[in-house]
Amino acid sequence: MHDSVLERVTLRRSLGAKYLTTPAPSKEDYAEALTWAIAAPDHCHLSPARFVVIEERQKFADFFEAGALADGADQEGAQRARSKALKAPAMVAVVAKIDEHNERVPTHEQWMTVGAATSNFLAALELKGFAGKIVSGSSTHYRDAVDALCKKGEVIACWIMLGTAKPDAPGAEVRSIYDELLTYFS
Ligand SMILES: Cc1cc2nc3c(=O)[nH]c(=O)nc-3n(C[C@H](O)[C@H](O)[C@H](O)COP(=O)(O)O)c2cc1C
Repeated sequence: MHDSVLERVTLRRSLGAKYLTTPAPSKEDYAEALTWAIAAPDHCHLSPARFVVIEERQKFADFFEAGALADGADQEGAQRARSKALKAPAMVAVVAKIDEHNERVPTHEQWMTVGAATSNFLAALELKGFAGKIVSGSSTHYRDAVDALCKKGEVIACWIMLGTAKPDAPGAEVRSIYDELLTYFS
């Protein structure tokens, strides 16, 4: 069991929307992924990351289009932004709350927890047979999206685009191992 989990994590690769099809994760899948996400190391248990499954995708397409136009995009650019909210079978927002005045946990530690939780969330879904990719960019700042998802002090850290790998999606990637990334001081 452990060997096969390790092997699958080692061989994982991100797949963007063009390589994704249905089925998307179910509510049960998301609930299980959350248990992995919250298992991430979290100094003082601040829970700096939460996850919002975007069910009303058309609304987010409107938000993305309006956001791109507000950023100065032309109609073509706005339509491109719009399509980003619709392309993948599923879309999850990672919302982060970073306490800049916490005396014990500096902001970089809180961001590390957001990253670890996000990575765990995606990895859990990948192990369940789904695929996806973390993306960010201007859309994380679009006014309507932020207003819809964030409470005071929160930001949209990134999106996780999700689905199932299409048959022609690139396969598992064996990563290069660089000697300098793991050394022993002895
Ligand atoms: C917070 C975060 C934001 C990212 N934003 C983007 C993005 O906007 N566009 C993109 O192509 N990749 C983005 N990436 C990188 C991809 O998610 C992915 O990790 C990268 O393509 C490498 O693929 P791999 O995960 O298979 O190694 C982001 C990664 C992280 C952690």
